[in-house]
Amino acid sequence: MLSLKISDLTKPEIYQLLSSAIAPRPICFASTVDKEGNINLSPFSYFNMMGANPPICVFSPSRRGRDNTTKHTLENVLEVPEVVINIVNYNMVEQMSLASTEYPKGINEFYKAGFTPIDSETIKPPRVKEAPVQFECVVNDVIALGKEGGAGNLVIAEVKMIHLQESILDDHGKIDPFKMDFVARLGGNWYSRVTAESLFEVAKPLAKLGIGVDALHEDIRNSNILTGNHLGQLGNVEKLPDEDEVKLFELEPEIKDLLDATIGDAKTRSTQLHLKAAEFLSERKVEEAWKTLLIDFF
Ligand SMILES: Cc1cc2nc3c(=O)[nH]c(=O)nc-3n(C[C@H](O)[C@H](O)[C@H](O)COP(=O)(O)O)c2cc1C
Repeated sequence: MLSLKISDLTKPEIYQLLSSAIAPRPICFASTVDKEGNINLSPFSYFNMMGANPPICVFSPSRRGRDNTTKHTLENVLEVPEVVINIVNYNMVEQMSLASTEYPKGINEFYKAGFTPIDSETIKPPRVKEAPVQFECVVNDVIALGKEGGAGNLVIAEVKMIHLQESILDDHGKIDPFKMDFVARLGGNWYSRVTAESLFEVAKPLAKLGIGVDALHEDIRNSNILTGNHLGQLGNVEKLPDEDEVKLFELEPEIKDLLDATIGDAKTRSTQLHLKAAEFLSERKVEEAWKTLLIDFF
């Protein structure tokens, strides 16, 4: 493992390491106005939600590394403490990138990048019509995180109104991740797109306590076949199947075949059982996986 002290690194190296490792990051496409009403639109991937009650988002327009100047977005929220946070999807990504160009103050990136401004209902900055979700926010605070080039400025924005395109909703009116076509920023010029193939679910830890990985028998915990993800699934059960359930499961044709084929060869049987359990776990059949693994123990 390579271990690096921050004091031994240059500022560009630190930026490159942090922005490549802390990824993928969602993109806040921030629409702001100055006190004369000039509109500005810029993307920020130092961005996330920080709470739901009150609903708070933060993003950070940094001081420029090269000359320590500040960004128009920061200057605007200090003058007019309001921002629309527009969420970026794949269809918007190239225009969003164009909007990050450092145009002079007063240049409206809505027009430069070809986006459509629509009026907000509660604040002055306009929304991006093309964005699937638009949050109208008031800025509660701006916290400078340093004075030198590269220092962040934490903009604390409270969401007052949420606009959603109907096309991203499922039948229950909830945001459907399959319909969002999310994009996110990684290090360098890299982005990622959330496609149907890249989406997966993880069962929440049980409301009742899961037994934990530490409670797994060492043959299971040290298996050469089962991965960390598999162990996490196995540890997320409240109790194990009992001997009767396991014996009944042994009669299932696919398990019976496996046992018949490995009679008298305990090592191969154990390997085959672990492989079978891994297969069940990848199909999220945790109960079946446990019954398979416990055959070795009864
Ligand atoms: C996807 C993306 C994410 C970005 N994230 C940030 C960020 O979090 N903080 C930052 O200071 N600049 C970020 N930038 C660069 C700013 O968008 C860029 O400096 C922009 O010109 C600032 O505009 P402004 O001066 O009009 O506010 C990002 C650029 C892109 C393309």
